[in-house]
Amino acid sequence: MTEPASAARIVVLVSGSGSNLQALLDATADPAYGARVVAVGADRDGIAGLDRAAAAGVPAFVVPLKAYDSREEWDRALTDQVAEHRPDLVISAGFLKLVGPHFLAAFGDRYLNTHNTLLPAFPGIHGPRDALHYGVKITGATLFFVDAGMDTGPIVAQVAVPVRDDDDVESLTERIKVAERGQLVEHVGRLVREGWTIIGRKVTIP
Ligand code: GRF
Repeated sequence: MTEPASAARIVVLVSGSGSNLQALLDATADPAYGARVVAVGADRDGIAGLDRAAAAGVPAFVVPLKAYDSREEWDRALTDQVAEHRPDLVISAGFLKLVGPHFLAAFGDRYLNTHNTLLPAFPGIHGPRDALHYGVKITGATLFFVDAGMDTGPIVAQVAVPVRDDDDVESLTERIKVAERGQLVEHVGRLVREGWTIIGRKVTIP
């Protein structure tokens, strides 16, 4: 089977295990999904996310911050690497770096991130831990378009995950990830097949 000529081009950015990336690789194996992962980018070597890209035969690139004299140079290099793959959509799937103004100028209206809490509560890299310690009874995952803030951009979708009395950080994190992957696959598919508008903070998929 071949993809429809109109299959959207997705670049996925990762820093870790890449289970969200894997969910996208699996979904895009079906031509009816409407997209394919054309490249995977990372900010570090030696991560499972890069192994997943290799196993799927998807080209990968690594742009480590420490290889550049400044964050601005890194931001430009990352932008250039992503741009080479002419993406319709760029997805941060556990990418642990905030991109800079150059990247946002190039991809700001089509750069998605998935976060493992219900934003605007508990932004940052320890979301499930912070939610658990706060004592919330419901948390979840948020898919949003990235803006210049940290986890502040316009929201595409959210999914709720109840906190159990016996949860620890690991069990809660893993249960959120299951819901998060489903949400990511469902909504990325809708975005690429149906398009979207962003007006102010409101994202609409027609
Ligand atoms: C996701 O839960 C994401 O929300 C958080 O890091 C996790 C990445 O997991 N920022 P993976 O690398 O996709 O397995």
